[in-house]
This record gives sequence, structure tokens and C-alpha cells, in this order.
Amino acid sequence: MALIESILARPYWRQKLWAWWYPFFTRRVRAQGIDFLNYAFETNPPLRIPLAPEDERNRPNIQLYHFVASHASLSGKKILEVSGGHGGGASYLTRTFHPQQYIAMDLNAEAVAYSQKKHILPNLKFQQGDAMALPFADETFDVVINVEASHCYPDFARFLREVSRVLKPEGCFLYADLRYPSGEEEWMNDLFHTSALRVDSMRLINPEVVRGMELNTERYQTMVTQSLPKFLHPLAFDFAGVKGSRLYRDAVSGTLSYRFLKLKKSKVP
Ligand SMILES: C[S@@+](CC[C@H](N)C(=O)[O-])C[C@H]1O[C@@H](n2cnc3c(N)ncnc32)[C@H](O)[C@@H]1O
Repeated sequence: MALIESILARPYWRQKLWAWWYPFFTRRVRAQGIDFLNYAFETNPPLRIPLAPEDERNRPNIQLYHFVASHASLSGKKILEVSGGHGGGASYLTRTFHPQQYIAMDLNAEAVAYSQKKHILPNLKFQQGDAMALPFADETFDVVINVEASHCYPDFARFLREVSRVLKPEGCFLYADLRYPSGEEEWMNDLFHTSALRVDSMRLINPEVVRGMELNTERYQTMVTQSLPKFLHPLAFDFAGVKGSRLYRDAVSGTLSYRFLKLKKSKVP
């Protein structure tokens, strides 16, 4: 664990580790039809959003996307999702909120190929790309979405500047992710001071994410034991946030903070 933590603390090696891990993970789980890679979300009392029968198994993960996306209107808009993973969130949001166009981008080419085969909708497109250099022209999108991925990036401030660049004036950035205390000060400084984006609202969502982790524990335990070699199980249980893992306990205690933020780009640059 200490070795992994010291690797994750260094931007260059963090980038290398995640760039190796996610394609490896996709190859291991794609036969199981895993469409989400997040810790999920549930309120108390339960959110109970209406879902199609085929979405029910992913309810806790969908609810994280639903919560994040419900802070702006997506209908008829041009949406970019950075780090869309296996595309489940992109598919759900496209079917539910009817954007004009939804592009979900990810560094992991295996995830993009999986999504292109699995989630086929006329206004939804998946493409490969790096959050550090978004492959889009300035002022292209009305809304940018980013769910539980920025902790993988080597330079978060650079990502925010990229988001700001591709957003239209008055565009909106909907964002959720986690940090340990060692990264919290830099995280907040980047969010509040390093780009043309202005924080509109911020909420700590640890209790909702913890409930999501609890709802997914059994499923994620099965996924890990069926897909990964035994020596990786302890690390993978932590990665998956199953009940009792260190990551789960840190989310319960508040050692780790999981936040939602809405940021806006101003009218005039
Ligand atoms: C925890 S997963 C979340 C995926 C998805 N948002 C979800 O909630 O299911 C993090 C994702 O970030 C992607 N990622 C990591 N580094 C990236 C980068 N530099 N640019 C784009 N995507 C990246 C990974 O490939 C992975 O799909």
C-alpha cells in the first residue's frame, strides 16, 4: 500500500499507473458488462429516480451521474464528458436528458472500444483523448461533465484550464471527485484560483457516496474475485471501496473528502 501511495503522489508515475491499470481492468471485466467505474451515490431517504428495468442493476452508480447532471440543463445542449469510462453514465444521461450531442472521451482506448459497441445512440459519441489536452476547439460545449476521474490526472490545474477553454461563455462545468488531506489544499486552490471558471456551488457528499459503496459492496466483491488474480484482491477491494476497505473507512470518517462542485465560465473572457 505504501508503495502505491508514494507512486500516486508523483504526477508522472500517477499518470503511468492509471494509464496501465484502466485498460488492464477493462480487459478483465468487459465480459461481465461493467458499465460504471464509480463509488456510486444514495440519499436518505432513497432517491428513487424512475429507471428503465435494464438500468436497475446500476442504480447506485446512475444516481451519482443523475445527481451531478441535474445541476444544469442538458436538453438540446452540446455536452462533453471527460473520462467517461465504460460509458454507462453517458448512455444514461443521453437517454434521460436528450442533449443535442454528447461526446464521452477517455484516455483508455479499450474503454472507448467497449462503449462504442455497447452504448449505441444517434447523438452519443465516444472517443479517445487525454484530459491534459482536450482534442476540441475553443468554446465548443455548453456543459462539461467529469465524474470521479480527476484524481488520476497528472496536472489538475491544467485540466481546469482545458475545461474553461472548450466551454462556451456562460458554460457550465459539473464535477465530482475525491481527495485525501495531503491533496486537499492544492485541490481547493486549483478549483478557486487557477482558471477562468468560478465556483457556483460546492457540496461534501461523503454520506451519499458511502451509502453507494455499501449498496455496491456485494457486487464489487464478486466482480473482483471473478476477474482478478488473488494477489490483487486486497488492493482491488480498496480500489472498489467495498465495505470494510480502508477507502470505505476513510470516506466514513471524513479522512477522505468526496465533493460535488458546479463551476461556471463568465460571459466575457
Ligand atoms: C474511476 S474511473 C471513472 C469513470 C466514469 N466517470 C464512471 O464514473 O464510471 C476514472 C476514469 O478516468 C480515466 N482517465 C484517467 N486518466 C485520464 C486522462 N489523463 N484523460 C482522460 N481520462 C483519464 C480512466 O481511464 C477511467 O476511465
